[in-house]
Amino acid sequence: MSESKNIVWHDSIVTKQDRQEIKKHKSAVLWFTGLSGSGKSTISVSLEKELHELGVHTYRLDGDNVRHGLNKNLGFSPEDRTENIRRIGEVANLMVDAGLVTLTAFISPYREDRDRVRALLEDNEFIEVYVKCSIEACEERDPKGLYQKARAGGIQGFTGIDAPYEEPVKPEVTVETDKQSLEESVQVIIKYLREKGYVS
Ligand code: ADX
Repeated sequence: MSESKNIVWHDSIVTKQDRQEIKKHKSAVLWFTGLSGSGKSTISVSLEKELHELGVHTYRLDGDNVRHGLNKNLGFSPEDRTENIRRIGEVANLMVDAGLVTLTAFISPYREDRDRVRALLEDNEFIEVYVKCSIEACEERDPKGLYQKARAGGIQGFTGIDAPYEEPVKPEVTVETDKQSLEESVQVIIKYLREKGYVS
């Protein structure tokens, strides 16, 4: 529920469509979801570079970075994760309104939280990208040493160990990082964006 009262929405004269026309591409959110260490950040960084080279205006929001700033007052309880995703969803919505292809890389473990962001956006503006990778492979990679720490009891409620990850039911795109190379995963997403007319 909104706690603000006496506020009135003020529309701009310049619209999202106007901004998209100048940029010559549609705007949307590529919402990466998956376990820690599955490759969300790595893929989103490479994909952003390719899109940039194609002349697409992009912006990337990343779990670890956003938690240093906008969401630094949030932890990893279910409530805080929900609030984390709610805020990112709102920011992503503003960025889509600004005409950007926005890439978000958050575990976003709860289906309901992701679906709430989907509902916030217009049709075809939310592209859920499931970065699928077995917990065994993520744990084997353990780029930040956090799985080891969690197994040793040093982190409570670590996703995939003692906190849930709810797989997407109908993601727009799935990449399997324990089976595909980074470049293959990036190309699967570029192909999707081309076929659906997001980029040319
Ligand atoms: S989310 O669940 O709220 O979507 P987010 O993507 O912002 O998570 O942050 C995940 C990152 O925080 C992980 O990649 C990892 O580096 C770190 N982290 C620290 N504690 C935890 C935890 N308990 N569960 C998962 N990730 C954690």
